[in-house]
Amino acid sequence: MKGLFITFEGPEGAGKTTIVEALKRYTEANGISCIYTREPGGISISEQIRDIILKEENTLMDGKTEALLFAASRRQHLVEKVIPALKSGKIVVCDRFIDSSLVYQGYARNLTMESVMRVNSFAIGEYMPDITIYLDIDPELGLSRISKNTGREINRLDLETLDFHKKVREGYKLLIKEFPDRIIEIDASKDMEEVFEAVLTALRGSFKEFGLSL
Ligand code: TMP
Repeated sequence: MKGLFITFEGPEGAGKTTIVEALKRYTEANGISCIYTREPGGISISEQIRDIILKEENTLMDGKTEALLFAASRRQHLVEKVIPALKSGKIVVCDRFIDSSLVYQGYARNLTMESVMRVNSFAIGEYMPDITIYLDIDPELGLSRISKNTGREINRLDLETLDFHKKVREGYKLLIKEFPDRIIEIDASKDMEEVFEAVLTALRGSFKEFGLSL
């Protein structure tokens, strides 16, 4: 039996983590079993790679090194956690996946989406998400949200320029055109309850096909 692979994407400050946490509480309260995980990270080796990539002091890191480390972290997480869960028919909800690499490293870092896709194809094989929720936010609003959120970790990529974050958003918009059947865009500038309702509506069809009512 095949599981269901759901990913969440978005620029900094879109509220991804809050929404994924709300979905976790909601599915638990409704007796729907899902595995919640994140990238880069989710398991020990990938969390260790995350620390190297995101450490503020690693300013010398080359863009291709960064892309390769994200792909390495992704591979290990996939093999250790995501693939076994999908193979046993589970629902996996992952905070970020390949689209982040295509957009941040491919588009915003100018490595090209094609070359980042090639590296990632080697890492993930056929394991693309079934459905991706893209939380859209203007980067200025997103960055002002994260500067107010004192509990949030600030990482090396957060410290990039506003232009970089504008390119991230542009990159996501290009991906939506490329994968219109997989990626659903949701306006994340609204308040969190409204965004969460829109996310539930977007996911209902996939859960229904999977035999569950969300
Ligand atoms: P997070 O803040 O959502 O935990 O993500 C960590 C940072 O890593 C965020 O700035 C986005 C970035 N990132 C990439 O640049 N490429 C990737 O492939 C992934 C998964 C994350």
